[in-house]
Amino acid sequence: MKLKKNYKILAIESSCDETSCAVVEDGRTVLSCIISSQIDIHTLFGGVVPEVASRNHITAIDNVVKQAVEQAGITFADIDAIAVTYGAGLVGCLLVGISYAKALAFALNKPLIAVNHIHGHIASNYLTYPDLKPPFLCLLTSGGHTAIIEVPEYDKHNIIGTTLDDAVGESFDKVARVLGLGYPGGPKVSKMGEGGKSDIQFARSKDNLGYNFSFSGKKTAVINYIHNLEQKNQPIPTADICASYEKWVVDDLVTKTINVALDKNYKKIVLAGGVSANKRLRQTMKSACEKNGIECFFPEMLYCTDNSAMIGSAGYYQILNGGSFADSTLAPYPNLPL
Ligand code: KG4
Ligand code: ZN
Repeated sequence: MKLKKNYKILAIESSCDETSCAVVEDGRTVLSCIISSQIDIHTLFGGVVPEVASRNHITAIDNVVKQAVEQAGITFADIDAIAVTYGAGLVGCLLVGISYAKALAFALNKPLIAVNHIHGHIASNYLTYPDLKPPFLCLLTSGGHTAIIEVPEYDKHNIIGTTLDDAVGESFDKVARVLGLGYPGGPKVSKMGEGGKSDIQFARSKDNLGYNFSFSGKKTAVINYIHNLEQKNQPIPTADICASYEKWVVDDLVTKTINVALDKNYKKIVLAGGVSANKRLRQTMKSACEKNGIECFFPEMLYCTDNSAMIGSAGYYQILNGGSFADSTLAPYPNLPL
């Protein structure tokens, strides 16, 4: 569909523990992006409690949307479409965003765009790099997903490799929990590992996975390592465990992504998802790309973890490339595939 210049999308994201609303122009320019995080609340429970998350979205969403419109310096009348995440995510959380978006679209008589959360994560790069266009290869690493994805066009996504069990973010969260570091685990493991040595060789089996990943076994190897020391009443080298685990996981992610890029002749690798905020992953990928003559892209920190600006960008390219608008029957799709 042809879209007018300065096409403004108001985007809503509420799939997990961030209530977010943004105004994005022409899929690339963020006029505002408000993120109300519930991390402090869920930290008390050691992880996201779905019912608590849904209730907090209800409390936050109205103000978050109003602030986004105000900060963008526009009025509701200036908005051309409303985009909302409809999956994957927690059903009660998605429902809050979807209900709000549907009501707003109806009240303002504007079209509604249903966006896949993962397409949003990939699109977060379009916000950071105004000239980035497909084709490229994407390494998606989040709390719920780990995949190597070919993006030949804006609206086409082919999975080349994926995790056979846990997502990488989830495995960081579990290791953090075993070490008593709290939630969310990824940033905590990374911070703690900064002062540690990365040379612990956890028990590992031969990797026959091709382009796929497995993180459950790695996590178990770390847990067994810790239990072993506990049984012998030996001190737990927390910083070294964090650094070694992070290195193990990052090397696996980077090696396989580079292999796919070389095998399939991709010249651009794009990182997406919460774990792409990880410093070691960014640095390791950057230098591996440099060595192999591949360009490397990662979203700025703000857009690595869940936010609505990425949903506004993905929604724009979806409609621009012939996708249809959603209607009032739109419902949450918790296990929405890529
Ligand atoms: O994309 P995201 O915000 O939410 C999902 O869609 O899942 O990703 C959240 C995940 C969590 O598992 C969190 O521990 C991880 O991203 N994460 C990190 C870092 N920052 C967030 N993992 C490793 N290092 C980080 N710096
Ligand atoms: Zn996410």
